[in-house]
Amino acid sequence: MANQAPAARPATKPVDVPSNPRFSSGPCAKIPTFTLDKLSDAALGRSHRAAIGKTKLKDAIETTREILGIPADYRIGIVPASDTGAVEMAMWNLLGERKATMVAWESFGAGWVTDVVKQLKIDAEVKTADYGEIVDFAEVDFNTDVTFTWNGTTSGVRVPNGDAIPADREGLTICDATSAAFAMDLPWDKLDVTTFSWQKVLGGEAAHGMLVLSPRAVERLENYTPAWPLPKIFRLTKGGKLIEGVFVGETINTPSMLAVEDYLVALDWAKSVGGLKGLIARADANAKAIFDFCEARDWIDNLAADPATRSNTSVCLKFTDARITDGAAFAKAVAKRLGDENVALDVGAYRDAPPGLRIWCGGTVETSDIEAMLPWLEWAFEAEIEALSEAA
Ligand SMILES: Cc1ncc(COP(=O)(O)O)c(C=O)c1O
Repeated sequence: MANQAPAARPATKPVDVPSNPRFSSGPCAKIPTFTLDKLSDAALGRSHRAAIGKTKLKDAIETTREILGIPADYRIGIVPASDTGAVEMAMWNLLGERKATMVAWESFGAGWVTDVVKQLKIDAEVKTADYGEIVDFAEVDFNTDVTFTWNGTTSGVRVPNGDAIPADREGLTICDATSAAFAMDLPWDKLDVTTFSWQKVLGGEAAHGMLVLSPRAVERLENYTPAWPLPKIFRLTKGGKLIEGVFVGETINTPSMLAVEDYLVALDWAKSVGGLKGLIARADANAKAIFDFCEARDWIDNLAADPATRSNTSVCLKFTDARITDGAAFAKAVAKRLGDENVALDVGAYRDAPPGLRIWCGGTVETSDIEAMLPWLEWAFEAEIEALSEAA
């Protein structure tokens, strides 16, 4: 009939399903070869200060250094409370010596701003950008201490490279790289503090954080004492000297030796796929499969406005179809359909982010699973559009 909208095409369910439907942005999919018996060498029921425990912790540190190409003179510590613990530890120990700049373009970066401005009450310039955008690093004063997130996990926007960070900066750079480490090149010479957690790109277990310190960060630690008290769990110096033990595996408090074993197994797998280069290639291939899918459709787009800033781990998508009236409800319904079909779990956008989907593409995810999942996304979209026209 003239002037009547065409009947919605009935959505047809795809046949193939991903063999692993886990696309959560943390905890992330475990390594593809994971089985629980791979952890049978864990030093369970043993002291982490016994030789066996210390050896494993040191191995975790040194294999991290090897895979990520962290310079020999940088300290790497395993710290409590995951990435959050590592970032807080850095901010509470180091900031306050000079003016700070807090840079944020999504939820986690915004959280660090709150802590520095409202809890530590530090004189800080705050630079923010909306979800999908990024702060222009050329406008940041790196003679202040600058805190930022390398990859905004909740917006899918990442720093494209470290070129705008001057080599001769006077301030320190504190970089939350939790969804970047093991998936992106990190310019170690431009990063004084780098943090990440095991539960992210390598699909490790939660609760343990990594704190990487440049010699300049150590110098600050040894020459500056913050005006506020530091709980034991944050303390990195004693009598004005770095507690070196923390950086050879003598953790501040008791780690989970099961989680340590799991991390060692994940690091071994990372080496088997070609180390950092191999991991980056895997994440890039996963993300590209999604970018290409979006490119070929006019109803879905990347939340990251500038292609140079598009994350290859936490790929965030928005629905752009004009027929959608309630974006949040629509995106939630699509994510629910995908979850109910067990083809894509935990892919709803982060609670503070704009409505949409977030699909983890880090190296532990197989490209074949992304490719098997995407027709389901198309199906879920069409089914929800169909539901909308039926309700109208
Ligand atoms: C950018 C960023 N920072 C910090 C965190 C918090 O990490 P964790 O729970 O390991 O402390 C996350 C978790 O998703 C994150 O994506």
